[in-house]
Amino acid sequence: MSGADAATSTSERPSSRGAESASTPPKARVLVVDDEPALRRSLARVLMAEGFDVLTAEDGAAGLSLLATTRVDVILLDVMMPGLGGVEVLGRVKEQHPEVEVVMMTAFGDIDTAVAAVRAGAYNFLTKPFGHTEAVVLALSQAVEHKRLVDRTRALEQRLVEHERFGELIGRSPRMQDVYRVALGAAPTTSTVLILGENGTGKELVARAIHQHSLRGDRPLRAINCGAIPDTLVETELFGSVRGAFTGAMDRPGLFELADKGTVFLDEIGDLPLAAQAKLLRALAEGEVKRVGAMEPKTVDVRVIAATNVDLKERIGSGRFREDLYYRLAVIPVHLPPLRQRKEDIPLLAYHFLHKYARRSGREIKRIGVEALRLLREQPWPGNVRQLENAIEHAVVMARGDSIMPGDLPFGREDASSAEEGTGSAGMIGGIDDALADLPYAEAKDRAGLAFDGAYVERLMKRTGGNVSEAARQAGMDRSNFRRLLKKVRGAGKKDEPEPEE
Ligand SMILES: Nc1ncnc2c1ncn2[C@@H]1O[C@H](COP(=O)(O)OP(=O)(O)OP(=O)(O)O)[C@@H](O)[C@H]1O
Ligand SMILES: [Mg+2]
Repeated sequence: MSGADAATSTSERPSSRGAESASTPPKARVLVVDDEPALRRSLARVLMAEGFDVLTAEDGAAGLSLLATTRVDVILLDVMMPGLGGVEVLGRVKEQHPEVEVVMMTAFGDIDTAVAAVRAGAYNFLTKPFGHTEAVVLALSQAVEHKRLVDRTRALEQRLVEHERFGELIGRSPRMQDVYRVALGAAPTTSTVLILGENGTGKELVARAIHQHSLRGDRPLRAINCGAIPDTLVETELFGSVRGAFTGAMDRPGLFELADKGTVFLDEIGDLPLAAQAKLLRALAEGEVKRVGAMEPKTVDVRVIAATNVDLKERIGSGRFREDLYYRLAVIPVHLPPLRQRKEDIPLLAYHFLHKYARRSGREIKRIGVEALRLLREQPWPGNVRQLENAIEHAVVMARGDSIMPGDLPFGREDASSAEEGTGSAGMIGGIDDALADLPYAEAKDRAGLAFDGAYVERLMKRTGGNVSEAARQAGMDRSNFRRLLKKVRGAGKKDEPEPEE
């Protein structure tokens, strides 16, 4: 094995690389490159005992040829070796495998070489002889963690570019891309994030996406709505209480203790009472919380994400929000733009919700008509994405064919009824709108016929309070024919609904 005396434990050979990526993350793999056999052996023993997968090589050339065929996370690389020197090997590694981290081993006192190595891309250095093996293990663990973060961020950036979405968030407008970039950059850190945006812009989705993409993603995200809890209870909710602190007080952990090693999401932070703000500030500054009534604080490891739809600066001005807390929270601010400022995302979002609700209700609605889309784009959307979602859900219930038409939208009614009444409206002449005029005659006539049937039948059903017999009588049709027509305009998807009342 040309110089590479692989002291691996379970080491997968290159042929098993495909299987690695599909399963849980493989063990971190370290390649020890050193010309001293005794040192290689003892390092391999220690590192394997610490759960690393270990490969060894006796010189730079052997190390590089191993790298060419085998996945390695970190190289522990000696500087002083016969043949290729360590710094030279480092240069080649960074050139050919920039994703691999390198920890250099330099002679005690040779700080110049150590600094040069770090400048040349080494992640860290250790000096020989080692005092404690813990220092080696720690340096390697940190290098592995760093590499995993970098790998993960690269993979995510790739996904962003490909799918134009982040977590559950959808949108490809430049403003949403900015949001993704900031959120993704913030995710792997423990910095506090403040998410700012109007109602329904997706603040909670951003908070969840950041948490999921952080190293705490497998821990819980504990959310609390500061505006929905009575002032007197907020402190105990957040920080817990000890028995007897106040009438009925129990020994109880608060949200911060429950979320230890995870993330706390403080929604509507602008509504937090001033007393609780002071306590929160202490928790953020010291990493400690004190249960209400307790003497001793407890250390907690919590990452905080906060959100608000109010103008915190204005609240600071009127003395309702602490300025120092604001700056603690807004380490990384994420501004979610209102929907009206990113209209180009509307069709994408509308189709996303169409598929969601059509699937949920088992209906075959596949399209949003041109005119309906135009209407959607023109709305001011004060309730933002949530309001758009509700509008599409409504439209899916109302739609009669396989497309959403203006009349199916909650605000499209006026247009639709004026068309039915033949009074005309923008883009509509004699009840024919532009969307219909864009179609070939036969198809336009079919569509118009279906729309007419739908409007006519529904109007009679409404007028008669859903009485089919009476509606049929008023239409001058026999009951079974009217029923057939009703079925046709309401579409097959509604077959699960109870039969209309007689
Ligand atoms: N970019 C988006 N892509 C997909 N769905 C979205 C997006 N933004 C918001 N939504 C949806 O809109 C609804 C509201 O989102 P969310 O609760 O995150 O908003 P919010 O800003 O926290 O609102 P509020 O201020 O009312 O608390 C949710 O159903 C969410 O799934
Ligand atoms: Mg919210």
